[in-house]
Amino acid sequence: MSEHKVTALVTGASAGLGAEFCRQLAPLCDVIIGVARRREKLEVLASELAGSVEMHCLEADLSAVEGVAATLEAIRQKGPVDYLINNAGFGTVGHFDQLPINGHREMLNLHIDACITLCRAAIPFMRELGGGQIINVSSLGVFVPGGGMAVYGATKAFLNYYSQALQAELAGSGIEVQALCPGFTHTEFHNSMLVDGFDHTQIPDQMWMNAEAVVAASLAAMGNGQVLVVPGEYNLGVAKTSLQKQVDDL
Ligand SMILES: NC(=O)c1ccc[n+]([C@@H]2O[C@H](COP(=O)([O-])OP(=O)(O)OC[C@H]3O[C@@H](n4cnc5c(N)ncnc54)[C@H](OP(=O)(O)O)[C@@H]3O)[C@@H](O)[C@H]2O)c1
Repeated sequence: MSEHKVTALVTGASAGLGAEFCRQLAPLCDVIIGVARRREKLEVLASELAGSVEMHCLEADLSAVEGVAATLEAIRQKGPVDYLINNAGFGTVGHFDQLPINGHREMLNLHIDACITLCRAAIPFMRELGGGQIINVSSLGVFVPGGGMAVYGATKAFLNYYSQALQAELAGSGIEVQALCPGFTHTEFHNSMLVDGFDHTQIPDQMWMNAEAVVAASLAAMGNGQVLVVPGEYNLGVAKTSLQKQVDDL
């Protein structure tokens, strides 16, 4: 029997938090499978990490069944995976009824359907391995519901509940589930929103973090039993204040 290689699967590995997860997981892994639509960006990252990890680049659109199927096949061929990072995502700004329904559905497919499908495929093998780490990238926005991102926030709320419930079901299995809830992070995420009128100047400076710090906080929380992880003291304060207000309003 061949020796098990410690393996991570990172979705949305071509940019931002996903690329940073690959960088910070590289010292912990033998193999990383990076998934995204832009193959050329994955290949640049694979070259950067070539000295420390064997990175496989999978060009796939995870909002489409074909892309999810190709990712399942990559797990079958290169897995089982010890780390599953469900990170691929995008945001839109605008009122629910003024945005196209196809965009809402694409978001549900990517943020929810792809995530649960990959978890469903990975968990039985993690059980056999006696452990594993699942990180579902959610958002601080879940704690601060408001207009303009109704479907986006709802998909991330799904990930928080799902991660908490899954962790309860997996107690004692050695598998840990985290819902990472970053606040505003300097990545490509807001590029498309700028076109839609997203105003950076409305966001207090203290809320912004860089991807390196967000991923470091996520990985540092592994093993401490915490499911919901809000990186950054300021953002944690924002989440707690908003949750307290929601409790007071009940
Ligand atoms: N940045 C923030 O302020 C912030 C705050 C809270 C939560 N988040 C969450 O953090 C996660 C990562 O976002 P980011 O900030 O790193 O943004 P980003 O720099 O725009 O990166 C998004 C990644 O997702 C991939 N992706 C998007 N659609 C995809 C699709 N259909 N199929 C496969 N891959 C796809 C992109 O790759 P390709 O374009 O190459 O496919 C890219 O690698 C997202 O889930 C986002 O909701 C971000």
